[in-house]
Amino acid sequence: MNTKNNLLINLTAAENIPTLSQQVGYLVSDKHQALPLSETILNKLNRDLPTILHAAFQDEDKAALLEVHKTLHTIYEISFSHPLSSVCLHEHSPWLLTIRNQIEIAWLNYEIPRIQKQLPSNSEVENPKLLCDWFIEQALLESNLDKFVLEFLKTQASIEQFNIFILSDATLNYRFCDALALSLPYSSEKVKAEIAQNIWDECGHGIPEKSHVRQFARMLTELGLQQPTSPIWEDWRPYAGHNIYFCFGLNRKHYFKAIGNLAMPEIFDSSRNRKIVAGLERLYSDARVKCEYFYNHLEADEKHGLDWLNNVITPIVNSEPLAGIELAIGGAIRMETMRRYNEYLADRFGLL
Ligand SMILES: [Fe+2]
Repeated sequence: MNTKNNLLINLTAAENIPTLSQQVGYLVSDKHQALPLSETILNKLNRDLPTILHAAFQDEDKAALLEVHKTLHTIYEISFSHPLSSVCLHEHSPWLLTIRNQIEIAWLNYEIPRIQKQLPSNSEVENPKLLCDWFIEQALLESNLDKFVLEFLKTQASIEQFNIFILSDATLNYRFCDALALSLPYSSEKVKAEIAQNIWDECGHGIPEKSHVRQFARMLTELGLQQPTSPIWEDWRPYAGHNIYFCFGLNRKHYFKAIGNLAMPEIFDSSRNRKIVAGLERLYSDARVKCEYFYNHLEADEKHGLDWLNNVITPIVNSEPLAGIELAIGGAIRMETMRRYNEYLADRFGLL
């Protein structure tokens, strides 16, 4: 059978579009009038969604969690797509917003109870100094598995295992500057200036070749790797860690959570990067040349962590004490997703 006939069958049979993420992918691929199955697929999706959400967030079924997060990823990517592409026609379509809202509500209802114990007390969240202390304390807390995975990268991981680690990081690296940009619209000039400074760093201080995306791409080339065109993860945990930036960043009501979520890695990334650099030096005599991306982040992140506490967290809580708890929730969820990411890495390395 030729390709054209295959395509015809694929586009005319709903059973060929069985999963939630494929269904959303189909429904955003063109105007619904141009998609013969749009009504059938949308009806089926709306009928099945509560069951999938229940399987994901009540039963913690891994396949359902993966499907839900792949779907959210597809939806969030619309906001970064080529402006002239047909997917953008659907960015604010009621049908899509309804699906997105249902998933986000079910997801946050799952996440927030899980981080309650880590949250600071009521008096701490409204006191900038105490809240900053909480951020530092939480960022430096490492579970046994966190320590184990980083120690493994530092002392034992093979080149193949390091490649998996680097390729797993590639998707977020490509979107990180956009995630930062989503947190820029805010009334405080001090906060804006700090976030703009971070964006300036990401952009290589105006020199495209020095941008972090290009540095990462060069590292991939040096290591003989290709930039993945889609995430390499077949696991919900890295998807969730990625999606949370955009769940918070693309919803104004979650603005302060987005800030807390962005602040946390600025504090913990430098100690993580030191171990990664040690692992790269063990594997490559010219690691500094091949992997300048990680070397450059060593010093930059140490400074960013303190700057975020002084110039973002502190002024926000000073002027808006009620934002404190939101900042903490965003930070605590980041720590939770970071731990899950380490669990995912441990699985991929065959350590569990
Ligand atoms: Fe960066």
